[in-house]
Amino acid sequence: MTTDIPASYDPLLRRIHWATAVLFIAAMLIGLYCGLQPAGTSPRRELLEVHKSLGVTLFFLAILRLIVRAATTAPPEPRSLSPLVTIAARLNHWALYAILFVMPVTGYMFSSAGGYSLRYFWTFSWPRLFADNKAVAEAGELAHGALAYVVYAVVALHIAATLWHVVVKKDETLARMWPRASRNPS
Ligand code: HEM
Ligand code: HEM
Repeated sequence: MTTDIPASYDPLLRRIHWATAVLFIAAMLIGLYCGLQPAGTSPRRELLEVHKSLGVTLFFLAILRLIVRAATTAPPEPRSLSPLVTIAARLNHWALYAILFVMPVTGYMFSSAGGYSLRYFWTFSWPRLFADNKAVAEAGELAHGALAYVVYAVVALHIAATLWHVVVKKDETLARMWPRASRNPS
């Protein structure tokens, strides 16, 4: 009997994952830096434009990723993991997917309803879908700022869990997302 069960995620999904990882960590660190600087100062103003452009890119990558994820088969969860670890990993992945949508949406609410421009990497401006609205802008700002703490925790846990799999468990978890990391790629 032939088996169609893959050992790793779909190649396109893996590429999107690593592009997301790089862009996301950059957006997160720039956001963290900007949040610590006084409003209206330089380089906060310029860096915020980069932050917002990265955030919009991540939003569209997340849509593409969901489509690819739905259209392809994910590798089965490793049987060597306890049910508790499997559930924790699943929750962590759902939280990451949620973050990939909620952070850009709340950031956009803040920016658009607050009357700020949203230039995409020094090129065109995205339309402002919200008219000036203080309540919407404040809700977006509050949610974006509060969720930033959830983001730090969930992403740190995700990276720490990967390290635990690679260094302590020495299992194939990283190879599911990066096949060349497999100890036995055959
Ligand atoms: C996945 C995408 C995103 C992530 C992970 C992210 C993350 C963050 C983080 C960690 C902060 C610092 C929060 C603080 O210290 O208060 C921040 C601030 C900010 N973000 Fe985002 N963000 C994303 C997308 C966006 C988008 C799409 C926009 C706007 C269109 C945006 C607009 C802002 C603004 C204006 C601030 C400064 C808030 C302030 O200083 O009060 N973000 N973001
Ligand atoms: C250096 C940073 C990162 C490393 C080393 C890493 C590593 C991994 C690994 C090894 C997997 C496979 C886990 C498994 O199959 O059980 C995975 C899956 C996943 N990662 Fe990451 N990751 C990183 C950053 C991120 C970031 C920033 C996000 C999103 C904000 C993210 C979202 C996800 C999601 C949602 C999955 C589940 C697979 C899927 O359905 O797409 N990762 N990651």
